[in-house]
Amino acid sequence: MNMRADGKVAIVTGAGSGIGTAIARHLAGQGVTVVVADIDASSGPAVAEQIQGYFVAVDLRQSAACQELVDSTARQFGRIDILVNNAGFQHISPIEDFPEDVWASLLALMLTAPFLLTKHVWPLMKAHRWGRIINISSIHGLVASPFKAGYISAKHGLIGLTRAAALEGGQYGITVNAICPGWTRTPLVEGQLHDLARAQGVPFDEVLDRVGLSEAAIKRLIEPEEIAALVGFLASDAGAAITGTTQVIDAGLTAH
Ligand SMILES: NC(=O)c1ccc[n+]([C@@H]2O[C@H](COP(=O)([O-])OP(=O)(O)OC[C@H]3O[C@@H](n4cnc5c(N)ncnc54)[C@H](O)[C@@H]3O)[C@@H](O)[C@H]2O)c1
Repeated sequence: MNMRADGKVAIVTGAGSGIGTAIARHLAGQGVTVVVADIDASSGPAVAEQIQGYFVAVDLRQSAACQELVDSTARQFGRIDILVNNAGFQHISPIEDFPEDVWASLLALMLTAPFLLTKHVWPLMKAHRWGRIINISSIHGLVASPFKAGYISAKHGLIGLTRAAALEGGQYGITVNAICPGWTRTPLVEGQLHDLARAQGVPFDEVLDRVGLSEAAIKRLIEPEEIAALVGFLASDAGAAITGTTQVIDAGLTAH
């Protein structure tokens, strides 16, 4: 199977850390030119340099920034073949205390930005009659947990966007899929688990076991590279007939 994609151009949001970095590296390894789009101007440029990609500093909660990211990429390369909507963050709070501005921020970054970027790359992909849009949702796009209302609402919404766009994209060779990871070893998750361990005065591994792994079939964190490999497959020609799907990679957590 030919998995190389020489000449293709991808935008990967949130590629300055964790899963996004692994995706950027994987795609670059397949011959794709990657635009590393991230608000973090300290980590992003180093990632871009390692993969001979390009860094764009961008706060994707701003709609004008979404437009400019696509416009500048299109000006530089004349094409955008792959869009990976990955940037995200988490906020844990009971609903009654959930800050309205944090709610708005979560939705702006994890639902509105993927919509705007999809809308803006669409004409380019349509013209080339080839496109791959991969939305990094979560098992929290499929099931809920308490105290994560904003995150869970955005991730569920992202699956709705995925399905709607997939139905429109089929006739143009554009596929749109969501990936729903379970607990993956990244700064986002390790930070959360360390905070919980500190708050509860128990060792990291005990918290990991209790919160993350007790229900899973495979008792370990998922590695970012495992998510990246799935992105690579969906982005390849081999993934041409896969669209509108939710690809769960959760070590069996939601198999119950
Ligand atoms: N780690 C997990 O277990 C897990 C599980 C399911 C889903 N996810 C999802 O995977 C994606 C990546 O998560 P991660 O664990 O790699 O997190 P991470 O914190 O390591 O990386 C997130 C990246 O997004 C960037 N970002 C944050 N706000 C931004 C903004 N306003 N504009 C542009 N970039 C911004 C950050 O700077 C960071 O580089 C997220 O959407 C997350 O919800 C993660």
